[in-house]
Amino acid sequence: MNAIDPVIHIAAANIRLDGVSKSYGKLAVIPKLDVEFKAGEFTVVLGPSGCGKSTLMQMIAGLERVSGGKIIIGEREVQDLEPKERGCAMVFQNYALYPHMTVFDNIAYSLKIAGLTKAERRARVEVVARMLGLTDYLERKPGQLSGGQRQRVAIGRAIVREPAVLLFDEPLSNLDAQLRHDTRIELAELHRRIGATTVFVTHDQVEAMTLADRILILNKGQVEQYGTPKEIYHHPASVFVAKFIGSPPMNILAVTGDGSMLRLSDGQPVVASHLKGDFQLGIRPEDIAVGNAAGRAGLTAHVRYREDLGSHSIVAAELAGGTVRIATPFGSDAPDQVVLSLSFPADRLHLFDALTGKAIPGALSAATKEQR
Ligand SMILES: Nc1ncnc2c1ncn2[C@@H]1O[C@H](COP(=O)(O)OP(=O)(O)OP(=O)(O)O)[C@@H](O)[C@H]1O
Ligand SMILES: [Mg+2]
Repeated sequence: MNAIDPVIHIAAANIRLDGVSKSYGKLAVIPKLDVEFKAGEFTVVLGPSGCGKSTLMQMIAGLERVSGGKIIIGEREVQDLEPKERGCAMVFQNYALYPHMTVFDNIAYSLKIAGLTKAERRARVEVVARMLGLTDYLERKPGQLSGGQRQRVAIGRAIVREPAVLLFDEPLSNLDAQLRHDTRIELAELHRRIGATTVFVTHDQVEAMTLADRILILNKGQVEQYGTPKEIYHHPASVFVAKFIGSPPMNILAVTGDGSMLRLSDGQPVVASHLKGDFQLGIRPEDIAVGNAAGRAGLTAHVRYREDLGSHSIVAAELAGGTVRIATPFGSDAPDQVVLSLSFPADRLHLFDALTGKAIPGALSAATKEQR
């Protein structure tokens, strides 16, 4: 236990969803979800608008009932329990503080309800306020705080009860870029210190990559991929994930295998392979090399536009009737050319099924090894 946190100690619990479903009338928002959030881990839930992220959080918290299945927190089945019996605390995007109460009373409110003495309440609130940098603001009303300070009060109110589970639904989306960045770092630090099992919904990829022990990608209420940020980035399970993570996202090109080569739709050869048939080929913008690799003919692409971002440039170029985005280091002269010769390193390629979009792991490495 941290020496300066004498009273906040959380026993993290794992959260298991066992065949959980949710429908509103005929609309099946979550058809059937099986997933486990491990005790003490920080999980980020990512997915397009309307895919069921908030619904999932509210079912865990007990604000929405499940239509089917079980939710197990620690050893307890909780899907039929009241929210207050579940040991979860939730911070929403539109957190509502009590406007007429001071910051102290906002944070202490739930402790009062729970019957803690005044001295106990003060001790806990002081620790939480210290953790969140709110010590000097305890006597203010929410109306006298900045957006970021109010956000921290909402977080303080959630953690003061020492919940085993912390649920965040886009808690930072009302903050400006700098505050968002600072609060993100505070949240990561907070998680390290208190260790509650945390599930955090965001639309922000940077938040996902930097905060998460594990990322859950949801698509139409179903798990598209659940893995560490590295796994998700380097081994996307589908075209959906590949295009969802990364900025700009992974390039996806239609290719056809003739048994010796994978070729683009205009016939240009990309990589040696024994595969036959149609596939989708992925390559990240930063993995594309501009210029010919050791004497091999490159792919010819025509520059459409470039965006100079200071540290690097993004070049969009037409290739085989589509557009590829290439990230090139700043100062590289390649973006100044109109016609580029591109090479796609074989070990940086991702292969996906043409129809389902699911990854076909190892298909290219096996093929290229055989070629050597
Ligand atoms: N009370 C409700 N009645 C009917 N449909 C609902 C209800 N609440 C949510 N939905 C629908 O369920 C789906 C999932 O909603 P949810 O709020 O979980 O999405 P989300 O992933 O959180 O989206 P966003 O990123 O926009 O917040 C949406 O299609 C939404 O319209
Ligand atoms: Mg939502």
